[in-house]
Amino acid sequence: MTTLDASAPAKAGLAFPSGFRWGTATAAYQIEGGAALYGRTPSIWDTFSHTPGKVLHGDTGDTAADHYHRMDEDVELLRRLGVSDYRFSVAWPRVQPTGRGPGSRSGLDFYRRLVDALLDAGIRPVATLYHWDLPQELEDRGGWPVRETAERFAEYAGLVAGALGDRVAGWTTFNEPWCAAFLGYASGVHAPGRSEPEAALRAAHHFNLAHGLGTAALRAVLPARAEVSLTLNLHALRPLTGRAADLDAVRRVDAVGNRIFLDPVFHGRLPDDLVRDTAGVTDWSFVRAGDLAAAAEPIDWLGINYYSPTVVAAAEPGYGPAAAAPSPWVGAEEHVRILPAPGPRTAMDWPVDAGGLHELLVRLRDELPGVPLMITENGAAYGDYADPEGDVHDPDRIGYLHGHLASVHRAIEDGADVRGYFVWSLLDNFEWAYGYSKRFGLVHVDFATQRRTPKDSARWYAEVIARNGLPA
Ligand code: NOJ
Repeated sequence: MTTLDASAPAKAGLAFPSGFRWGTATAAYQIEGGAALYGRTPSIWDTFSHTPGKVLHGDTGDTAADHYHRMDEDVELLRRLGVSDYRFSVAWPRVQPTGRGPGSRSGLDFYRRLVDALLDAGIRPVATLYHWDLPQELEDRGGWPVRETAERFAEYAGLVAGALGDRVAGWTTFNEPWCAAFLGYASGVHAPGRSEPEAALRAAHHFNLAHGLGTAALRAVLPARAEVSLTLNLHALRPLTGRAADLDAVRRVDAVGNRIFLDPVFHGRLPDDLVRDTAGVTDWSFVRAGDLAAAAEPIDWLGINYYSPTVVAAAEPGYGPAAAAPSPWVGAEEHVRILPAPGPRTAMDWPVDAGGLHELLVRLRDELPGVPLMITENGAAYGDYADPEGDVHDPDRIGYLHGHLASVHRAIEDGADVRGYFVWSLLDNFEWAYGYSKRFGLVHVDFATQRRTPKDSARWYAEVIARNGLPA
C-alpha cells in the first residue's frame, strides 16, 4: 500500500506519495502516421478510416501527428515535461505485418529507437501491445470473435518482448478491450465497424483469453523485474434513483461493461448474471475448458482509464432501442437507459465529474485488495487554438486535471493503492471516429505544419511533476 509522504515538497497543496509515477500516454495509430512505410500493412483502423462516412471529415491516421518522423522532438517534449514514465503503444501491423510469423526488422527498430531515446532522457517506457490496430489480415480471418486471433496475439506479444524486453520494464497487454469489443463489433462506431452482438461477446472473451495467453508469453521472455498489466476503461456507474429497477439497470451495465473483464482476469470466472442476461444472444459455448483459468494469469497492476461517470436508469415504456442506433450494451440494451450526467462538459460533450474517479478507485480498493492501480489515462478535449502570439491557453484542461488529481489524492488517502497517473495525451491526435476535431493534448499540434506548441497545461503539469503534488 502506498502512503502519503508528508515531507514531500508540495506543502501548500496536495503531496503525492514519494515514488509516484507521472506520465503521459499516446497510441500508435493516433500519432505515428507512416501508415505504409517499410512494410507496415493496413490495420482495421486504416480500413475503417478510409471507408467513407466512418470518421468525421474523412480523417485518417495516414500522417496523424507524424510522430514516426518526429520521435526525437516528441521525446524532447517529454523530457521538458519532466515525466518519469511514458505510455505508448506498439502497432502490430508495423512489427508483424501479416499478424503471424517473423517480425519486421524495420518496424521493431522504430520502437527500439523510441525506447533508447526515452531511456537516454531518463524516462521509463511503458509499452501497450494492443491499442486497437489489429492487422487487417487477421480481421479478414474473423477478427477478435475468433479464437485464432487470441493465439496470434500471444505469439506477437512474445515477439515484441523478445525485441524490447531487455529495455522495457512496463508492459500492458490491452488498452480498453471494452471499446475494442463493443464499439468495434456491437455498436460499430469503431473499427471494424460490425454490429453483431454475439460477435462482440465472443470478442470480449477472446480479449480476456488473449490477455492471459499474452501475459504468459511475456513472462516467458521478460526478466523477472518486468511488470505486466491490463488497462480497462471501467465505467463509474450511478443509478438515476435508488429505485430497485434503476439499481438493477446498473447491475446489468456493470456486468457487460465492467465485470465481463474483471471477473475472468482476476477471478477466473464469468459473472453468472452476465450469462443469464445474455442468454438470448449466446450460450457462451465458445468458452472452452481452461480458458478462464488462462485469463486469470496474475498481473502486477491494473490500469484505469477514466474520463467521466455514466448515469443509468431502467428502461421505460416508449423509450426503446427500436429506433436507436445499435447498442454496445449487449444483453442489457432493452432494460437500461444511459443518461447524460449533469454538469459542465468537455468538447466531447462528456461531463466533468472527478468524483467518479474516486468512486471507481475505492471500489477497486475493496474488490481487488492487493492489486496496485495506475491511472493510465485521464484528460479532456477542449477547443484549443494558438492565439496571435502563438500561445495556447487552456484553463479548462488545467481545471479538469487539477480536479481529477485531487480526486486521486483523496482516494489514496482513503486507502486506494494508486501508483501513478498518465495524462491523455501528450499530443493532439487522431481521436478515432472524431478524427482531428478533438484535441486532448498537453501539446498543441498544427496538423498542417506539424508544429508542436506546449499549452499552458503542459507548463502546469511540469510544475505538478516537479513538486510531486498539486499547488494549492
Ligand atoms: C481512451 C482511448 O484509449 C484513447 O485512445 C482515446 O483517445 C481516449 N480514450 C479519448 O477518447
